Amino acid sequence: MREQTARGLEAARNRTLRLTDLDEVELTTQHSPLMSPLVWDLAHIGQQEDLWLLRGGNAAAQGLLECKIEQLYDAFEHPRASRIDLPLMSPRESRSFIADVRGRVFDGLDRLEDPDPGQLFPYVMVEQHEQQHVETMTATHQLRVGEPLLGQGAPLPPGRVVPADSVLVPAGPFTLGVDGESEPWSLDNERPAHTVDLPAFRIARVPVSNGEWQAFIDAGGYDQPHWWSERGWRHRLDAGLDRPLFWAADGSRRRFGIVEEIPADEPVQHVCFFEAEAYAAWAGARLPTEQEWEKACAWDPVAQRRRRWPWGDSEWTPALANLGGEALRPAPVGAYETGASAYGVEQLIGDVWEWTSSSLEPWPGFETMLYADYSKPFFGGDYKVLRGGSWAVGGASIRPSFRNWDLPIRRQIFTGLRLAWDV
Ligand SMILES: [Fe+2]
Repeated sequence: MREQTARGLEAARNRTLRLTDLDEVELTTQHSPLMSPLVWDLAHIGQQEDLWLLRGGNAAAQGLLECKIEQLYDAFEHPRASRIDLPLMSPRESRSFIADVRGRVFDGLDRLEDPDPGQLFPYVMVEQHEQQHVETMTATHQLRVGEPLLGQGAPLPPGRVVPADSVLVPAGPFTLGVDGESEPWSLDNERPAHTVDLPAFRIARVPVSNGEWQAFIDAGGYDQPHWWSERGWRHRLDAGLDRPLFWAADGSRRRFGIVEEIPADEPVQHVCFFEAEAYAAWAGARLPTEQEWEKACAWDPVAQRRRRWPWGDSEWTPALANLGGEALRPAPVGAYETGASAYGVEQLIGDVWEWTSSSLEPWPGFETMLYADYSKPFFGGDYKVLRGGSWAVGGASIRPSFRNWDLPIRRQIFTGLRLAWDV
């Protein structure tokens, strides 16, 4: 388990280094007010690793950075838009700092004798933190304007024609959330496991595609307030929304600096919660709640138990879902028939984060973890829950129980949607 933990940390670091293997100007430029300069993410990854793994979370203890420098990398202290004005460490200093931290972390990991999951949890938590920043940095790359730096992306399996239908998830109780015993690397907001009884509902087999979204545009969906919530419509007007982010009026899109035709069979991404909600209303549907989403993803109604993944208990492989960031895009609809859940729902894990209708709240019995401010400050805020992970998420940082959240106006993230219906 120790070796696997070390490999996970290394895999996250390799991704970080690949996304930041750029010249000084690229790293220190703020490519969008929504994002930090990449050099901030780079050093922040090391600062968090220093805090959680070298100081056991004790912020008062002296870390490897001088106090006034360390404070620059406090995400709560400095909003993203203002980080460009901070006297940040240079790319060279940042790289050497994170390498120094990592060397000491590996020494500490080596010293653990026959570690149990409880001792390894902080390491895997830090790995997941780095993978989350890798996804954030990937979003920064997507917002960046200029010559392509990342290439086309790795090949993906072909799509297939999926019956454009939904599956029935019958009424009944299931286990929502997980515990440390079943999912030792689950984060605080995924716990504890508890029984929830849901009414029957239907959920779409696959996420909404670009082609379907184009039909919404063509039908005037962006011009008809009755499909939108009041707040959503106000935002649509204020922000001038009329198509997904990165789509152009001529039917092309920009993806990591490459201008290309929009593939009709790919799950739509870069739509905000308000757009997702309006699309669902136009389609005669609604967004699923996160409880519905998790039941459709993880519950096995025959065995009456949770699966670790939609397809069963075996670990993720690239044949089962599009994760890990290599593809630089979602896979076409129908690409992962063998990755279907017990109910026959496909592409729940990977490809695009899926907006749900739920706001971020703790599960009953919630307890904070070592990183006590990971979720708690966000409960009860203006955040909608996203499920399933995108193509940019690391394979070890997603689970059916994993809960992500963001403001309902955000669309630089790799987010699409799946429809649901009352029965
Ligand atoms: Fe962070």
